[in-house]
Amino acid sequence: MLWESACGKIILFGEHAVVYGRPALAVPLPQLRARAGIQPAGSDTSIIHAHDLGRDLYPDGKDANEPLAVILGLARARLGITGAFELVIESDIPLASGLGSGAAVATAVVRALAGFGQKPLPPAELSALVFETEKLYHGTPSGIDNTVIAYEQPVRFVRRVPPSPDEITPFIIAQPFTLVIANTGIASPTKETVGDVRRGWNQDRARYESIFDAVRVIVGEAQDALARGENSRLGELLTRNQRELERMGVSSPALERLIDAGCKAGAAGGKLSGGGRGGSVIFYVAPSDANAVSNAVAAAGAARVLTTVVG
Ligand code: PMV
Repeated sequence: MLWESACGKIILFGEHAVVYGRPALAVPLPQLRARAGIQPAGSDTSIIHAHDLGRDLYPDGKDANEPLAVILGLARARLGITGAFELVIESDIPLASGLGSGAAVATAVVRALAGFGQKPLPPAELSALVFETEKLYHGTPSGIDNTVIAYEQPVRFVRRVPPSPDEITPFIIAQPFTLVIANTGIASPTKETVGDVRRGWNQDRARYESIFDAVRVIVGEAQDALARGENSRLGELLTRNQRELERMGVSSPALERLIDAGCKAGAAGGKLSGGGRGGSVIFYVAPSDANAVSNAVAAAGAARVLTTVVG
């Protein structure tokens, strides 16, 4: 069986505002991966063993509308590959947690099919294909998830109105830094929080536009700090971004409980990451504080905690 994989991701700064044309900064999480294995099917019926969903899917039959079947269909059409396949999908990335599980699984599937057909896809094309499924299942995604996962490098992303291409630029991390990532264990579909922000924006555009502008300023300051190695500013910037996400209405008591616990245990700052309500929070920590912060957020109810070095 031929295996390919794709990384998870974390949005450091700028989620939600990125849907409205403001910049956001995201980094890959290379140690959390989705994997797809592929081989010709033993019969003329394709089958997908989706281990994390605990299901087998029949992409050319009754499950044709499932996200995994749709991405397989799109990739086959784009690559001009026919025939029946057996696909195995596995992922370390918790579902609906703001860590990019959906886009990572889709990216791994496309890479596996491209590898099988010996038709390698450049990251821009891979990202564009995965974006088609993101649109189907996430309403109005900005495209940041599929981009950072396909390129697997730190990305400053600005969504542009088609036909203008999105702005995708690598950003500099002069000094690596430590992040503690904690998952609430609460699955929160991004589509819902993105929809709620849209409703809020429709009701009071001036208010939301000013929040998005405040996020733009934070993202700019964060990019400068990262480029200069002024990492000690990151904690305060994360906390400022969190305040703006609270004003957008996408935070929640569960997220804030974890953020409070992590900051009391020594994190310099923290915020939710991704769609919000549930999903994950991130903390900037001095390496020597990582254990205390991890233990505190676990004691405060986090379902899963991991420490990673970014950059
Ligand atoms: O929940 P996630 O990790 O898929 O992140 C979504 C990020 C948003 O800005 C909220 C939506 C988007 O498409 O950019």
